[in-house]
Amino acid sequence: MKGIILAGGRGTRLYPMTKAISKQLLPIYDKPLIYYPLSVLLLASIRDILIIADPNFINLYKELLGDGHEIGVNMEYCVQDSPRGLADAFILGEEFIGKDKVCLILGDNVFFGPDLTEILLKAKKRESGATIFGYLVNNPSEFGVVEFDSNNRVLSIEEKPQFPKSNYAVPGLYFYDNSVVEIAKHIKPSFRGEIEITSVNNEYLRRGQLNVELFERGMAWLDTGTPSGLYKAGAFVKTVQEMQGFYVSCIEEIAWRRGFIDTNQLLKLGNGMKQTEYGQYLISLAKGC
Ligand code: G1P
Repeated sequence: MKGIILAGGRGTRLYPMTKAISKQLLPIYDKPLIYYPLSVLLLASIRDILIIADPNFINLYKELLGDGHEIGVNMEYCVQDSPRGLADAFILGEEFIGKDKVCLILGDNVFFGPDLTEILLKAKKRESGATIFGYLVNNPSEFGVVEFDSNNRVLSIEEKPQFPKSNYAVPGLYFYDNSVVEIAKHIKPSFRGEIEITSVNNEYLRRGQLNVELFERGMAWLDTGTPSGLYKAGAFVKTVQEMQGFYVSCIEEIAWRRGFIDTNQLLKLGNGMKQTEYGQYLISLAKGC
Protein backbone atom coordinates (compact mmCIF):
# COMPACT_ATOMS: atom_id res chain seq x y z
CA MET A 1 0.00 0.00 0.00
CA LYS A 2 1.15 3.52 -0.85
CA GLY A 3 0.75 6.54 1.43
CA ILE A 4 0.06 10.14 0.46
CA ILE A 5 0.36 13.13 2.76
CA LEU A 6 -1.45 16.13 1.37
CA ALA A 7 0.31 19.20 2.72
CA GLY A 8 -1.07 21.69 0.21
CA GLY A 9 -3.11 24.82 0.81
CA ARG A 10 -2.02 28.29 1.86
CA GLY A 11 -3.06 28.04 5.52
CA THR A 12 -4.84 31.38 5.31
CA ARG A 13 -6.76 30.70 8.52
CA LEU A 14 -3.45 30.90 10.36
CA TYR A 15 -2.16 34.18 8.90
CA PRO A 16 0.23 35.83 9.69
CA MET A 17 1.87 32.64 11.06
CA THR A 18 1.68 30.96 7.67
CA LYS A 19 2.34 33.96 5.42
CA ALA A 20 5.88 32.82 4.72
CA ILE A 21 5.82 29.17 5.71
CA SER A 22 3.72 26.11 5.05
CA LYS A 23 1.25 25.30 7.82
CA GLN A 24 2.38 21.68 8.06
CA LEU A 25 5.89 22.83 8.98
CA LEU A 26 4.72 24.79 12.03
CA PRO A 27 5.66 23.17 15.33
CA ILE A 28 3.28 21.16 17.46
CA TYR A 29 5.28 21.43 20.66
CA ASP A 30 8.64 19.89 19.71
CA LYS A 31 8.28 18.67 16.12
CA PRO A 32 6.88 19.88 12.81
CA LEU A 33 3.19 19.26 12.28
CA ILE A 34 3.82 16.94 9.33
CA TYR A 35 5.58 14.44 11.63
CA TYR A 36 2.20 13.60 13.14
CA PRO A 37 0.46 12.38 9.96
CA LEU A 38 3.73 10.82 8.82
CA SER A 39 3.85 8.82 12.03
CA VAL A 40 0.38 7.45 11.28
CA LEU A 41 1.58 6.06 7.94
CA LEU A 42 4.63 4.56 9.65
CA LEU A 43 2.45 2.94 12.30
CA ALA A 44 0.52 1.32 9.45
CA SER A 45 3.89 0.09 8.09
CA ILE A 46 3.44 2.10 4.92
CA ARG A 47 6.91 2.81 3.56
CA ASP A 48 6.25 4.34 0.14
CA ILE A 49 5.17 7.87 0.82
CA LEU A 50 4.34 10.81 -1.44
CA ILE A 51 4.24 14.33 -0.06
CA ILE A 52 2.13 16.80 -2.04
CA ALA A 53 2.79 20.46 -1.28
CA ASP A 54 2.56 23.97 -2.62
CA PRO A 55 5.38 24.78 -5.12
CA ASN A 56 6.68 27.53 -2.80
CA PHE A 57 7.32 25.07 -0.01
CA ILE A 58 8.12 21.73 -1.59
CA ASN A 59 11.86 22.23 -1.15
CA LEU A 60 11.42 22.77 2.57
CA TYR A 61 9.81 19.34 2.86
CA LYS A 62 12.64 17.83 0.86
CA GLU A 63 15.10 19.45 3.22
CA LEU A 64 13.23 18.15 6.26
CA LEU A 65 12.64 14.56 5.16
CA GLY A 66 14.95 13.95 2.18
CA ASP A 67 14.48 10.71 0.30
CA GLY A 68 13.39 9.03 3.53
CA HIS A 69 16.35 6.65 3.80
CA GLU A 70 17.31 8.00 7.24
CA ILE A 71 14.12 6.45 8.63
CA GLY A 72 14.08 3.51 6.23
CA VAL A 73 11.31 4.65 3.90
CA ASN A 74 10.97 5.89 0.33
CA MET A 75 9.82 9.49 0.25
CA GLU A 76 8.69 11.17 -2.96
CA TYR A 77 7.43 14.67 -3.66
CA CYS A 78 4.92 16.32 -5.94
CA VAL A 79 3.71 19.90 -6.26
CA GLN A 80 0.10 21.02 -6.26
CA ASP A 81 -0.06 24.31 -8.14
CA SER A 82 -3.39 25.36 -6.69
CA PRO A 83 -5.53 23.81 -3.94
CA ARG A 84 -7.99 22.02 -6.26
CA GLY A 85 -9.40 19.81 -3.52
CA LEU A 86 -8.37 16.72 -1.59
CA ALA A 87 -9.34 14.28 -4.33
CA ASP A 88 -6.70 15.94 -6.52
CA ALA A 89 -4.14 13.93 -4.50
CA PHE A 90 -5.10 10.80 -6.46
CA ILE A 91 -4.84 12.52 -9.83
CA LEU A 92 -1.47 14.07 -8.99
CA GLY A 93 -0.38 10.82 -7.42
CA GLU A 94 -1.60 8.49 -10.19
CA GLU A 95 1.84 7.38 -11.31
CA PHE A 96 3.08 7.01 -7.74
CA ILE A 97 0.06 4.90 -6.77
CA GLY A 98 0.44 2.63 -9.81
CA LYS A 99 -1.64 -0.49 -9.29
CA ASP A 100 -1.56 -0.31 -5.49
CA LYS A 101 -4.05 0.56 -2.81
CA VAL A 102 -3.51 3.92 -1.14
CA CYS A 103 -3.91 5.66 2.19
CA LEU A 104 -4.38 9.42 2.18
CA ILE A 105 -3.76 11.48 5.27
CA LEU A 106 -4.08 15.23 5.52
CA GLY A 107 -0.88 16.96 6.55
CA ASP A 108 -2.58 18.84 9.38
CA ASN A 109 -4.41 15.93 11.05
CA VAL A 110 -3.06 14.71 14.39
CA PHE A 111 -4.18 11.34 15.78
CA PHE A 112 -3.18 9.76 19.05
CA GLY A 113 -4.70 6.79 20.81
CA PRO A 114 -4.00 3.36 22.23
CA ASP A 115 -5.70 1.31 19.50
CA LEU A 116 -4.51 3.34 16.56
CA THR A 117 -2.13 0.77 15.08
CA GLU A 118 -4.74 -1.99 15.23
CA ILE A 119 -7.35 0.24 13.57
CA LEU A 120 -4.91 1.20 10.83
CA LEU A 121 -3.83 -2.35 10.11
CA LYS A 122 -7.45 -3.52 9.88
CA ALA A 123 -8.21 -0.81 7.31
CA LYS A 124 -5.01 -1.55 5.42
CA LYS A 125 -5.86 -5.25 5.16
CA ARG A 126 -9.14 -4.74 3.31
CA GLU A 127 -8.63 -5.87 -0.25
CA SER A 128 -11.27 -3.71 -1.90
CA GLY A 129 -13.44 -0.69 -1.28
CA ALA A 130 -12.81 2.27 0.97
CA THR A 131 -12.41 2.72 4.71
CA ILE A 132 -13.03 6.06 6.34
CA PHE A 133 -13.59 6.92 9.97
CA GLY A 134 -16.17 8.66 12.11
CA TYR A 135 -15.27 10.77 15.12
CA LEU A 136 -17.76 12.32 17.53
CA VAL A 137 -17.43 16.13 17.63
CA ASN A 138 -19.36 19.12 18.92
CA ASN A 139 -18.96 21.14 15.72
CA PRO A 140 -19.78 18.74 12.84
CA SER A 141 -20.61 21.59 10.42
CA GLU A 142 -16.90 22.22 9.96
CA PHE A 143 -16.25 18.75 8.52
CA GLY A 144 -17.48 15.97 6.31
CA VAL A 145 -20.34 14.38 8.30
CA VAL A 146 -21.68 10.81 8.25
CA GLU A 147 -25.42 10.23 8.20
CA PHE A 148 -26.65 6.90 9.66
CA ASP A 149 -30.02 5.20 9.55
CA SER A 150 -31.59 3.65 12.67
CA ASN A 151 -29.57 0.44 12.10
CA ASN A 152 -26.31 2.41 12.01
CA ARG A 153 -25.98 1.90 8.28
CA VAL A 154 -24.36 4.79 6.45
CA LEU A 155 -26.82 6.78 4.34
CA SER A 156 -24.62 9.63 3.13
CA ILE A 157 -21.57 11.74 3.72
CA GLU A 158 -22.16 15.48 3.56
CA GLU A 159 -19.43 18.09 3.26
CA LYS A 160 -19.72 20.85 5.86
CA PRO A 161 -23.53 20.67 6.13
CA GLN A 162 -25.34 23.62 7.63
CA PHE A 163 -27.68 21.20 9.40
CA PRO A 164 -25.58 18.12 10.14
CA LYS A 165 -27.46 14.83 10.37
CA SER A 166 -25.12 13.45 13.04
CA ASN A 167 -22.20 14.50 15.20
CA TYR A 168 -19.82 12.11 13.48
CA ALA A 169 -17.17 14.01 11.54
CA VAL A 170 -14.93 12.32 8.99
CA PRO A 171 -11.27 12.84 9.93
CA GLY A 172 -8.62 13.35 7.26
CA LEU A 173 -7.53 9.72 7.05
CA TYR A 174 -8.78 7.55 4.20
CA PHE A 175 -7.96 4.08 2.83
CA TYR A 176 -8.87 3.22 -0.78
CA ASP A 177 -8.45 0.48 -3.29
CA ASN A 178 -6.97 1.35 -6.67
CA SER A 179 -10.26 2.47 -8.23
CA VAL A 180 -9.93 5.76 -6.32
CA VAL A 181 -7.76 7.13 -9.13
CA GLU A 182 -10.48 6.72 -11.75
CA ILE A 183 -13.17 7.87 -9.33
CA ALA A 184 -11.22 11.06 -8.54
CA LYS A 185 -10.86 11.86 -12.23
CA HIS A 186 -14.64 11.90 -12.66
CA ILE A 187 -15.51 14.05 -9.65
CA LYS A 188 -17.17 17.37 -10.53
CA PRO A 189 -15.98 20.43 -8.56
CA SER A 190 -18.25 21.48 -5.69
CA PHE A 191 -19.71 24.94 -5.16
CA ARG A 192 -16.42 25.95 -3.52
CA GLY A 193 -14.65 24.89 -6.72
CA GLU A 194 -12.91 21.84 -5.21
CA ILE A 195 -12.97 18.18 -6.08
CA GLU A 196 -14.10 16.96 -2.70
CA ILE A 197 -12.98 13.83 -0.92
CA THR A 198 -16.59 13.60 0.25
CA SER A 199 -17.68 13.07 -3.37
CA VAL A 200 -15.17 10.21 -3.64
CA ASN A 201 -16.56 8.66 -0.47
CA ASN A 202 -20.13 9.01 -1.71
CA GLU A 203 -19.19 7.22 -4.91
CA TYR A 204 -17.81 4.29 -2.86
CA LEU A 205 -21.03 4.39 -0.84
CA ARG A 206 -23.10 4.29 -4.06
CA ARG A 207 -21.11 1.22 -5.13
CA GLY A 208 -21.78 -0.42 -1.75
CA GLN A 209 -18.06 -0.36 -0.95
CA LEU A 210 -17.72 2.21 1.80
CA ASN A 211 -16.72 1.09 5.29
CA VAL A 212 -17.03 3.61 8.11
CA GLU A 213 -15.22 2.72 11.33
CA LEU A 214 -16.04 4.74 14.41
CA PHE A 215 -13.21 5.91 16.63
CA GLU A 216 -13.78 5.20 20.32
CA ARG A 217 -13.73 7.83 23.06
CA GLY A 218 -10.08 7.35 24.01
CA MET A 219 -8.83 8.44 20.62
CA ALA A 220 -7.53 11.98 20.22
CA TRP A 221 -8.06 13.73 16.89
CA LEU A 222 -6.70 17.19 17.30
CA ASP A 223 -7.63 20.29 15.38
CA THR A 224 -4.72 22.35 14.11
CA GLY A 225 -6.72 24.71 11.90
CA THR A 226 -6.70 27.74 14.20
CA PRO A 227 -4.09 29.38 16.47
CA SER A 228 -6.00 28.14 19.49
CA GLY A 229 -6.19 24.59 18.08
CA LEU A 230 -2.45 24.61 17.38
CA TYR A 231 -1.70 25.81 20.86
CA LYS A 232 -3.91 23.19 22.48
CA ALA A 233 -2.46 20.40 20.34
CA GLY A 234 1.04 21.45 21.44
CA ALA A 235 -0.02 21.49 25.09
CA PHE A 236 -1.59 18.03 24.69
CA VAL A 237 1.60 16.56 23.24
CA LYS A 238 3.76 18.18 25.92
CA THR A 239 1.51 16.83 28.69
CA VAL A 240 1.43 13.26 27.35
CA GLN A 241 5.18 13.19 26.72
CA GLU A 242 6.04 14.55 30.17
CA MET A 243 3.63 12.28 32.00
CA GLN A 244 4.58 9.06 30.25
CA GLY A 245 8.11 9.68 29.08
CA PHE A 246 7.14 8.30 25.66
CA TYR A 247 7.14 10.67 22.74
CA VAL A 248 4.07 11.23 20.60
CA SER A 249 4.57 10.73 16.84
CA CYS A 250 8.35 10.36 17.01
CA ILE A 251 9.03 9.16 13.47
CA GLU A 252 12.53 7.89 14.24
CA GLU A 253 11.25 5.80 17.16
CA ILE A 254 8.45 4.26 15.11
CA ALA A 255 10.84 3.50 12.24
CA TRP A 256 13.13 1.75 14.74
CA ARG A 257 10.36 -0.18 16.51
CA ARG A 258 8.98 -1.29 13.14
CA GLY A 259 12.45 -2.50 12.11
CA PHE A 260 12.85 0.00 9.25
CA ILE A 261 16.15 1.15 10.81
CA ASP A 262 18.54 -0.52 13.23
CA THR A 263 19.75 0.68 16.61
CA ASN A 264 22.95 2.16 15.16
CA GLN A 265 20.94 4.31 12.79
CA LEU A 266 18.67 5.43 15.62
CA LEU A 267 21.73 6.40 17.65
CA LYS A 268 23.16 8.29 14.70
CA LEU A 269 19.92 10.25 14.29
CA GLY A 270 19.89 11.01 18.02
CA ASN A 271 23.51 12.15 18.00
CA GLY A 272 22.72 14.48 15.11
CA MET A 273 20.50 16.50 17.47
CA LYS A 274 21.92 15.57 20.86
CA GLN A 275 21.67 19.15 22.12
CA THR A 276 17.88 18.73 22.28
CA GLU A 277 15.63 16.65 24.49
CA TYR A 278 14.35 15.04 21.30
CA GLY A 279 17.87 13.90 20.37
CA GLN A 280 18.48 12.69 23.92
CA TYR A 281 15.27 10.69 23.76
CA LEU A 282 16.44 8.87 20.62
CA ILE A 283 19.82 8.20 22.23
CA SER A 284 18.17 6.80 25.35
CA LEU A 285 15.99 4.48 23.24
CA ALA A 286 19.04 3.27 21.32
CA LYS A 287 20.99 2.64 24.52
CA GLY A 288 18.02 0.86 26.09
CA CYS A 289 17.81 3.11 29.12
C1 G1P B 1 -11.39 18.37 4.80
C2 G1P B 1 -12.50 17.49 4.24
C3 G1P B 1 -13.53 17.17 5.31
C4 G1P B 1 -12.83 16.55 6.51
C5 G1P B 1 -11.70 17.45 7.01
C6 G1P B 1 -10.88 16.74 8.08
O1 G1P B 1 -11.90 19.61 5.11
O2 G1P B 1 -13.09 18.16 3.12
O3 G1P B 1 -14.48 16.28 4.79
O4 G1P B 1 -13.77 16.30 7.54
O5 G1P B 1 -10.80 17.77 5.93
O6 G1P B 1 -9.81 17.54 8.56
P1 G1P B 1 -11.03 20.95 4.76
O7 G1P B 1 -9.75 20.82 5.50
O8 G1P B 1 -10.85 20.93 3.28
O9 G1P B 1 -11.87 22.09 5.25
